Amino acid sequence: MKEEIQLLLEEVKKKTASIISKDMIEDFRLEYLVKKGKITNLFTKMRDVPKELKKEIGKDLNELRKFAEESILELNDKFELQEDTNPGIDLSLNGRKKRSGSSHPISITISKMIEIFTEMGFEVAEGTEIEDSYHNFDSLNFPPDHPARDMQDTFFIKDDRDLVLRTHTSPVQIRVMENSKPPIRTIMPGRVYRNEAIDSTHLAEFHQVEGLYIDKDVNLAELKATMITFAKKLYGDNLEFRFRPSFFPFTEPSAELDIRKPGSDSWMEVAGCGMVHPKVLEAGGINSEEYIGYAFGFGIERITMLKTGIDDIRLLYENDVRVIGQF
Ligand code: DAH
Repeated sequence: MKEEIQLLLEEVKKKTASIISKDMIEDFRLEYLVKKGKITNLFTKMRDVPKELKKEIGKDLNELRKFAEESILELNDKFELQEDTNPGIDLSLNGRKKRSGSSHPISITISKMIEIFTEMGFEVAEGTEIEDSYHNFDSLNFPPDHPARDMQDTFFIKDDRDLVLRTHTSPVQIRVMENSKPPIRTIMPGRVYRNEAIDSTHLAEFHQVEGLYIDKDVNLAELKATMITFAKKLYGDNLEFRFRPSFFPFTEPSAELDIRKPGSDSWMEVAGCGMVHPKVLEAGGINSEEYIGYAFGFGIERITMLKTGIDDIRLLYENDVRVIGQF
C-alpha cells in the first residue's frame, strides 16, 4: 500500500506538470479526486490496512490528496490570470473601421435651431422653393422697382416670369398668416436662391430660418431677448451681441444682429429682424390695428460657420468627407 501511494504520487506529479488548460484540470479531478477516482479508491482500501500501519499510511494518503487538491487550486489561479489578460481575440489582425455616416453640418444646425425654438414655444412650417413674385416680393412690401426683382439678383423661372426661386424664407411668413390665426409663433427653415457671384461668404444657394411672432402685445425688447436667448443656447453664454439699425421693406423698425465670439476680433452678421410692417400683416389677412408682430431671418451657413470654425462657405457644399465627416 505504501508503495502504491508512492507510485500514485509520482503519477499525480507528472500529470499536474503537464496540464496546460482548464479542461485538463477538470479531467485530472475526474481521474483522481471524485468518488471513484484513483486517490479516493485508495482511501477505500484503508479498511484492509493492518491497524498498526493505519496511522502512517493514512498520513501518506492524506498528503497525496492534499497535494492533488492544492495543485488544482494553483492551476485554476494560473489559468484565470491568463484569461484576464488575454481578451480571447486576435489583436494582431487589423480591425475594420465602423462606417456609420453623419448628418451634414447644415442639417445639424437646422435640427438644433428647431429644437431650441420649439422649446421656446415656436411651431415649424415650410413653404416651397419655387415661389410666386407676389409672395416673394409684393406681399412683403417690396416696391416694383426694388433691385431684388432684377434678373441680376434673382433666378426667374424661364417660361413664367411670375415665378422665382425664392430669394428668402420670408414669403413663408405670408403663407403661414394666410393659413392660420394669431397668436402665431412659427419658425420656417428652408433653402433659398440668389444670383450671387460666389466667394468665401456667398453662394447662389443657401439656407435660412425665418421666424414670426404675432400677438396683441409684442415689442422690440422681446424680439431682442428671443434672439439673444437663442444664440446663447446655441453657442454658450460667452457671446457679444450687436443690433445694428438696418432696412427691410417688410419690417419697421429693422435691425441686423451681429455676434462676436470671445477672443475673436471680427463680428459675424447672422440675422435680419424687426417689427412686422403693418402692410405685411394686412397682406397676410391680419388686422394691423389689433395685432403686432416681430420677425427674424437667420442665415444658416453663417451660423454653422461660426459654430464649426469653417471659414469658407464653399467648404460646406463640396461634400468632402474630410470636412463634413468631422461633425
Ligand atoms: N429676408 C431677409 C433676407 O433674406 C432676412 C430677414 C430680415 C428676415 C428681417 C426677416 C426679417 O424676417 O424680419 O435678407
